[in-house]
Amino acid sequence: MIKWGRKVRIKMNENIIEKIRQFVEEESKKPTAKYGYEPYLFHLIPVRNYAVKLAKKLGADVEVVEIAALLHDIGSIIYGRENHHVTGAEITEKKLKELGYPQEKIERVKSCILNHRGSVNNHKATVEEQIIADTDSLSHFDNLSGLFKAAFIYENLNQQEAMTNVLSKLKRSFEKLSFQESREIIKPRYDAAISLLKEK
Ligand SMILES: [Fe+2]
Repeated sequence: MIKWGRKVRIKMNENIIEKIRQFVEEESKKPTAKYGYEPYLFHLIPVRNYAVKLAKKLGADVEVVEIAALLHDIGSIIYGRENHHVTGAEITEKKLKELGYPQEKIERVKSCILNHRGSVNNHKATVEEQIIADTDSLSHFDNLSGLFKAAFIYENLNQQEAMTNVLSKLKRSFEKLSFQESREIIKPRYDAAISLLKEK
């Protein structure tokens, strides 16, 4: 029987994370990607970075969290937003199986994806699931230009309406955070955003 050392296992898992990152980036670059390439840069990468930071702080499974962060919106990229937690979990299962990822870990990544949506009232049982939901909100504070783009272009608001709209989105994102650690990470950006956007 081959005995795999810890170093080999870590190396293999780093490869899987990198392969998943490449998969998500390639899907985002395709002309068929529902929302183009920007969500990869302005949403997924911040979610991944916050998720890894929070997982380390909270003693969660960093690898499961990093993979789930990269894949949590893959359903939306490929098929659109509707039910993207379900389509995303299906794509995730197929992709991770292809890469030979252990089934027990696939299930944990999938449950993070199935339960990441604040608007879908699924029960978040594990710390990893809560981290993905929290970091989905934290990423808004790294993407003010994206929130304004949505307000101007998709919601057709004027400047004052857009300011109020973005401010209330950011307040909601802050209020629904589960972890004190998440609030601590984002507090300086939250305060800065409130100060810049509050009504004159
Ligand atoms: Fe997301």
